Amino acid sequence: MSGPDLRRAAAARALELIEPGMRLGLGTGSTAAAFVALLGERVRAGLDIVGVPTSEATRLQAEGLGIRLATLDELPELDLTIDGADEVDDQLRLIKGGGAALLREKIVACASRRMVVIADAAKHVARLGAFPLPIEVNLFGLTATHRAVEAAVARVGCTGPVRLRRDPAGKPILTDGGHHILDAHLGAIPDPDALGAALWAVPGVVEHGLFLGIADAAILAADRDGQAEVTVLGSLV
Ligand code: A5P
Repeated sequence: MSGPDLRRAAAARALELIEPGMRLGLGTGSTAAAFVALLGERVRAGLDIVGVPTSEATRLQAEGLGIRLATLDELPELDLTIDGADEVDDQLRLIKGGGAALLREKIVACASRRMVVIADAAKHVARLGAFPLPIEVNLFGLTATHRAVEAAVARVGCTGPVRLRRDPAGKPILTDGGHHILDAHLGAIPDPDALGAALWAVPGVVEHGLFLGIADAAILAADRDGQAEVTVLGSLV
């Protein structure tokens, strides 16, 4: 099975959790987009929900599908957020932000009663850190913040370069919130809690992509002899 098939299988399982009247956080990325596409079909068939998108990309997709949307200010408490992840471990700790939407994703997930991750099972790892950790930073004082992030990372026993994320034309990327992203290529993160705390202590860091104690469950889809096998980490209820 291809990656898109596995993403769709995980998204389809998540769709079973949706009930009429729900206030939903809508994640960002290709797996979340697969979920939003399926949700759009249900909405067309009459399902009444309201969604809060975690990015402009998701807002555009959901609007195009006729999904009723609200801002988080209009709906500050949500029932459920469905979102993808770049890595998930056995304790449901995540790395997110490969699509640069980590700040809004974290705000929306934390405003939700529950967060369920959907992903290709290849994202399930024994230890976080092979995927470069995204760190959203303010534009002001970027060089100083970059150095302080490198020092913070080293202080908690992580090694590896921290690089400013650029677009294909070489320009530093801008998030929906107007910030830059530093990617920390660490290989492994021995203590995610310590790293998260160290990063938050750096002035100029807006948010980091470690989602710790936020996800309630992960729906993972793997290829088993040409069929999607869906497994669940944590509890879906
Ligand atoms: C967006 O900023 C990310 O957090 C995505 O949720 C994450 O990168 C997963 O994306 P894919 O579903 O495209 O792999």
